[in-house]
Amino acid sequence: MANIKLGVNIDHVATLRQARRDVDPDPVSAARVARSAGADLIVCHLRQDRRHIQDKDLHNLRKVLKTGLHVEMADRPEMVKIALDVRPDWVCLVPETPTEVTTEGGLDLKSGKSLEKTVKKLRDAGIGVSLFVDPEAVAVRMAHNFGADAVELCTAEYAKSVGRHRQHTELERLQLAGYLAHELKLELHAGHALDYSNVVPVAQIPDVRCLNIGFAIISRSIFMGLKPAVIEMKRLIQQA
Ligand code: PXP
Repeated sequence: MANIKLGVNIDHVATLRQARRDVDPDPVSAARVARSAGADLIVCHLRQDRRHIQDKDLHNLRKVLKTGLHVEMADRPEMVKIALDVRPDWVCLVPETPTEVTTEGGLDLKSGKSLEKTVKKLRDAGIGVSLFVDPEAVAVRMAHNFGADAVELCTAEYAKSVGRHRQHTELERLQLAGYLAHELKLELHAGHALDYSNVVPVAQIPDVRCLNIGFAIISRSIFMGLKPAVIEMKRLIQQA
């Protein structure tokens, strides 16, 4: 049985709430249900445009989650200040552009001086830091050089690859980047666009410790409820 943590991303519970700018559905209630169904971490992305998760959600989540709060954010002074205030267990630094529908790929680490400083600030505050990177050796090495605790490998290219050959190639990229991360003693996370049909080969990558999954779980929960949707995803990754 694979010992892989499941991080359930609840952004799209907040997306639905923001459609009416009301109080339901409440991401904190979703976090409680997801945890009771076996989610090891609750993941959310505080975007600069606040299109889903709001500042007060983060504070409320921190109040009810003693452990396992994982926040994605851009490397911006405003966000770093919020992280230092809320003190999640993990921050994953991600690239962000205003027009994107969702995160489009890994960080550009070449313009990384600010990133290195941010990693240090967050780690000095006792927050675990992961960097969202494309599955490339150079990115994994740079994440290590910047002092990150973990890398989250972007699985988007794997998830959208069509045909067995292409999918195999993308999986191999993830495996190779994963080996390097392990060799450099970086904790290995992965995520983006994973779903019930494509998650198992990623869960079989040696040394992967955590998979962060949102859209597929929240989508399925509309038809079958959040608890069964989380239980099913957890079963798939644990039996991989
Ligand atoms: N990991 C990162 C870094 C992300 O930005 C996202 C999307 O917010 C996810 C994982 C989850 O992606 P999805 O919602 O497609 O499962």
